[in-house]
Amino acid sequence: MIIAIDGPAAAGKGTLARRLAAHFDFAYLDSGALYRAVGAKALDQSIDLDDVAGLVVLASGLIGEDMAHPHLRTPAVSEAASRVAALTPVREALKDFQRNFADSPPGGKAGAVLDGRDIGTVICPYATFKLFITANRNVRAERRWLELREKDPSVIYDRVFNDLVVRDRRDETRQDSPLRPADDATLIDTSMLTADQVFEQALSVIAS
Ligand code: DC
Repeated sequence: MIIAIDGPAAAGKGTLARRLAAHFDFAYLDSGALYRAVGAKALDQSIDLDDVAGLVVLASGLIGEDMAHPHLRTPAVSEAASRVAALTPVREALKDFQRNFADSPPGGKAGAVLDGRDIGTVICPYATFKLFITANRNVRAERRWLELREKDPSVIYDRVFNDLVVRDRRDETRQDSPLRPADDATLIDTSMLTADQVFEQALSVIAS
């Protein structure tokens, strides 16, 4: 079984995906972490974010520990990830890994949960279940701000909101694999829901 979970930043995809994976004892892949790892390595190695060939080398050579990069969730890496994710050759370099993960989940698990922007549309259009998780922009910006503030109390809400607007626009308007719900995805708006309620709604979709 493959569960595809897509949606914009800070809508609650990751929380839901991890919970579903634990519930069903499935493998979990945070596909955004792949783009973040490429962005983080490019910043570390001073590789220009327009140097497509250099970025493809990074994407092709990712290893597990790159996804544990200490700066993976910082605003600078979020911005770099969003830029590298708009490049088709980088997306292509990461595609097989994601598809293999879904088709042959590691650890011999019986299924996989993948979250991202294009899992239901491009990576696994054949997924068993597709969920599109969204929330209004103010709610998402506030969630992201509270999360970032735990590590850096000086982080400013307006900056987080503006960064989110820019990244949403880039994710939604890029030529390759733009963020959009698959035609057969079930939409869940988490703006007014607790994490428990989102989980219950997702479970009811999967049980139906
Ligand atoms: O979900 P996230 O914020 O960690 O994702 C980081 C960036 O990667 C974000 O700008 C969108 C992009 N991304 C993507 O283009 N496709 C995916 N499947 C996952 C993430």
